[in-house]
Amino acid sequence: MKQDTDVLLDEKRVFKPSEEILKLANIKDWEAEIEKGKDIEKYWAEKAEQFVWFKKPEKTLDESNKPFYKWFVNGKINMAYNAVDRWIDTDKRNQVAILYVNERGHEKKMTYYELYREVNKFANALKNLGVKKGDRVSTYLPMCTELIVTLLACTKIGAVHSVVYSGLSVGAFVERINDAEAKILITADGTFRRGKIIDLKKVSDEAILQCPTIETVVVVKHTGIPIEMSELSGREIFYETLIEGEPAECEAEEMDAEDPLFLLFTSGSTGKPKGVLHSTAGYMVGTATTLKNAFNIHDGDLWWCTGDIGWITGHSYLLYGPLLLGTTTLVYEGAPDYPDPGAWWKIVEKYGVTKLYTAPTAIRHLMRFGNKYTKIYNLSSLKVLGTVGEPINPEAWMWLYENVGKENCPIIDTWWQTETGMFMIAPLPVTPLKPGSATKALPGVDADVVDENGNSVPPGKGGMLVIKKPWPSMFRTLYKDEKKYVDNYWKDIPGCVYTAGDIARKDKDGYFWIQGRSDDVLKIAGHRIGTSEVESAFVSYPAVVEAAVIGKSDPIKGEVIKAFVILKEGYELKTKLIEDLSKHVRYELGPVAVLGQIKQVDSLPKTRSGKILRRVLRARDRGEDVGDISTLEE
Ligand code: WT7
Repeated sequence: MKQDTDVLLDEKRVFKPSEEILKLANIKDWEAEIEKGKDIEKYWAEKAEQFVWFKKPEKTLDESNKPFYKWFVNGKINMAYNAVDRWIDTDKRNQVAILYVNERGHEKKMTYYELYREVNKFANALKNLGVKKGDRVSTYLPMCTELIVTLLACTKIGAVHSVVYSGLSVGAFVERINDAEAKILITADGTFRRGKIIDLKKVSDEAILQCPTIETVVVVKHTGIPIEMSELSGREIFYETLIEGEPAECEAEEMDAEDPLFLLFTSGSTGKPKGVLHSTAGYMVGTATTLKNAFNIHDGDLWWCTGDIGWITGHSYLLYGPLLLGTTTLVYEGAPDYPDPGAWWKIVEKYGVTKLYTAPTAIRHLMRFGNKYTKIYNLSSLKVLGTVGEPINPEAWMWLYENVGKENCPIIDTWWQTETGMFMIAPLPVTPLKPGSATKALPGVDADVVDENGNSVPPGKGGMLVIKKPWPSMFRTLYKDEKKYVDNYWKDIPGCVYTAGDIARKDKDGYFWIQGRSDDVLKIAGHRIGTSEVESAFVSYPAVVEAAVIGKSDPIKGEVIKAFVILKEGYELKTKLIEDLSKHVRYELGPVAVLGQIKQVDSLPKTRSGKILRRVLRARDRGEDVGDISTLEE
């Protein structure tokens, strides 16, 4: 939800850690750890020592070609080896690695050893399909164990995975797979959602007609609904058939620290979604370290990240982070309020979840039901709670703190991005907390709020959120678009500083208060979606001549879409057309694009060069002053 930061800065409540938290904490002195993290090279080099390297790095950071930084130079390593294989010879061998639970109450447990065997089998199967180091493999899968196995199998053999979120639809799917030039697609028959089964195969069948690079489609039988397999010369094959008889051993590919690990698409303010490219060693060190620090992870934890693997949250903190730390990670498939609004709390009680990481939008949704459901279940196993995706409003923070955490659990509000790969601004469990603030940059991260010249702004004043020094799990480039990587992120401020695209303030204690995006990117239920993507979806409908889209604030989703459309002669925005348009946008982009309102207009405010001034639409819509409109064409 868009915050009124003036009100936020008046937030005076401070929550200090309890005796118990202090006792359990890995890091007891927050300020001292931040001090230690100021020598970034030394700090991250030390963290890197906790992993298994085939060859140790020769140098921690190479800054010779800014902003194309290199971390852990010439180190050789394999991510899957560190997430899975290394635990096989330890006490963790038979510990549950993945606990899969769905909204129908079905569960599946996979120990580290079982995971190891299945990853190896699938890795061998991928090799048989001709997948080599550097090749791209795409997935369009629900939250299921096979998705985790697939991604780990890719990293084991050095293939670059590219996950397409199962909530995206045909248009978004085609764009992502074609940009990645993926060779293989792994999909499933369907996914469970609110008591229904959503047919994923149908979407994928339709989409891959437009994806010429896909050679093989692997299909997971997940829900068991009948599906049609194509007759096309063995192009489609079932997952279970494919791994049958494959050896359960597979050598881990020796990867260079800087070899690409995965591609993940995210929305920007202009044009098509951007392929964010992450590389191996830095990402590994960054995600594992930040998870361990911010959530105080240790043996015996049951970690639950409710985010989907289709987004960076799931990549970093459902899959890689927890497995790199040898934790048990819970994978939940379904809605938070199905079969009833106690669904999540029931899971916490049944399995004894210790750390829960979720999103403000989910909290706001569940808050509506009061404290009835959080009282029915025993939530005393919980030790630390966390959120991500957008600023958490103090009301939601307090609800989570009181009703779920019973005033015993610190709330770790984590600010980060697809591009940053890891948490950047977040407290540690011992940090004194202020509801609505992500507190300060984590140890080893240098964040600030600056003006356009790069000077820090005084407390209370708004500015651009920037990162001043490189960090290990930073993205390395935008796929096939180095120029855009440099121009979009490193050019706004003099001196090679990373601009995040967010507006923020710091208070007099140095705490960050994130205000929201400074660009034309919407945050719908924490999901990032570019206004221009939505506009192209509208315009691709025959009756629409032109469209402009802005975010409209929504009490639960944070923001939803408000669209202004110019229609072709003779068309009028009646119920039927609104329905058809909504359906069309959903078909193109998927359910993430939540439409709030469509309005028919005769013209749109534009600059003389033809750029739509969304700022003007936004201001008018909110009844605010439109500001400087000297560039407005009349
Ligand atoms: C944008 C990044 C990182 C995983 C999920 C989102 C917003 C994210 C917070 C937070 C305030 C936040 C920012 C950021 N955002 N977390 N704790 N407080 N804002 O990843 O889709 O790449 O979106 O999400 O606006 O720029 P993403």
